[in-house]
Amino acid sequence: MSYSKKISTDQWSSRLTFILAATGSAVGLGNIWKFPYMVGENGGAAFVLLYLVCIALVGIPILKSELIIGRRGGQSPGESFAGLARKEDSSPKWAVVGWAGALSCFIVLSFYSVIGGWSIFYFVNAVTHSIGADQEAVTNTFNTLIAKDWQANVIYHTLFIVLVAVVVLGGIRKGIERLVSVVMPAMLLILIGLLVYAATLPGFYDALTYMFNPDFTALAYNNGEFSWGRLGQVTLSALGHSFFTLSVGFSVMVAYASHLPKNVSIPNTALTIGILDTAVALIAGVAIYSIVFSDASLTPNAGPGLVFMTIPQAFLNIPAGQYLEIIFFLLLWLAAWTSALSLLEPPVEIAMSVLKIKRVPATILMTTLIWAVGLLSALSYNELSEVTIADEAILDFLSNFTDKVLLPITGLLVAIFSGWVMGMNSTTKELGGYGPVYIYWRICVRIIAPIAISMIFVAGVNEWLVS
Ligand code: PHE
Repeated sequence: MSYSKKISTDQWSSRLTFILAATGSAVGLGNIWKFPYMVGENGGAAFVLLYLVCIALVGIPILKSELIIGRRGGQSPGESFAGLARKEDSSPKWAVVGWAGALSCFIVLSFYSVIGGWSIFYFVNAVTHSIGADQEAVTNTFNTLIAKDWQANVIYHTLFIVLVAVVVLGGIRKGIERLVSVVMPAMLLILIGLLVYAATLPGFYDALTYMFNPDFTALAYNNGEFSWGRLGQVTLSALGHSFFTLSVGFSVMVAYASHLPKNVSIPNTALTIGILDTAVALIAGVAIYSIVFSDASLTPNAGPGLVFMTIPQAFLNIPAGQYLEIIFFLLLWLAAWTSALSLLEPPVEIAMSVLKIKRVPATILMTTLIWAVGLLSALSYNELSEVTIADEAILDFLSNFTDKVLLPITGLLVAIFSGWVMGMNSTTKELGGYGPVYIYWRICVRIIAPIAISMIFVAGVNEWLVS
């Protein structure tokens, strides 16, 4: 059986399971760990608004493009681009975009697995009550984990990625679909529970104000002075994050959609994924800030330590904190797990098609390579803390490089490919015909997204490299 036949026979069993898997990919550390601290670093509600604009004008339209390319292409990401390009009388070199996406998956999974490992570490320590009995002890636990305990970093990184590989070994129906069908509903329940709980806390109202009452000067002022550089930087962060959080620009949605049955509506599916992902980020933000603002000794701008340090500190003093802590870190781990599956899938599909090997060896090969590269990130704040690239620790550099360079470039190319290279004939078929929804999508991918991405990219990269 040829490779392309093989993937198209391993199809999602329904629209629902596809949505669960794609939402599982979208909802991850980006929503629960990263988005809340980005809001804190970039000025609160004004940033939230900017992020919503990026999602609507760029993120969701490009998500639709990836679903179109995947389903029409029906093969591994590189081949899907190449095959469609040929049909449109364009160069099969477009395959590069699929490859670049898979490269981003490779890089991101290598450090995502380290942070996912931290979430397992915290989950285990929450169960055994050993995150710390007072604020100082909690801070210590975090600092020791990050800066000293390299063995724990390596062990949990390994554990995390092995659990990811075990699921991907099973393929779409027998692996990914089985896991997400159980985990996604559980995650949703936990989130709603957290939100209801947050509403009972004294900090709830402050959290709502912080997240939804914008102060626009926060976007462009640096120490009281207007700065274009800051505006570019903040906008690039919002844009980069809108890609990251929707898993677009990674070929993940191209790979997932290559198993998507023809009768599923792409516009509705993309909108559902976009709304669910955004809702989870906002709910996580409100819940986390309610918890933080309920303790006067804590501040919202702890950066990457927000979830791992500030939150466990807050749990010390709130009712049932020690149980909530277990649930919270379970949520974080599950969210990271379902995202990581989708990060492994494109590299595995590419290995299968390029090396003509089966899923099992392809998964073992890719997991081993990504795990090995991930060791650099696992050691980046401790044993290798002296090693920096462009003045940043390895993990930070890899994260910034994918967010700020690789993703915008791939996103731009996906937009151009679907808007300018693919004819209206093919795209109208995938998007359910010509109409307002189609026109909106087409304007976004032909004009708005390319202009926005290029401008913001130049401004932001400039600022990132100069600062
Ligand atoms: N969207 C995931 C998150 O928000 C990260 C991710 C990116 C997963 C790309 C898969 C592909 O955490």
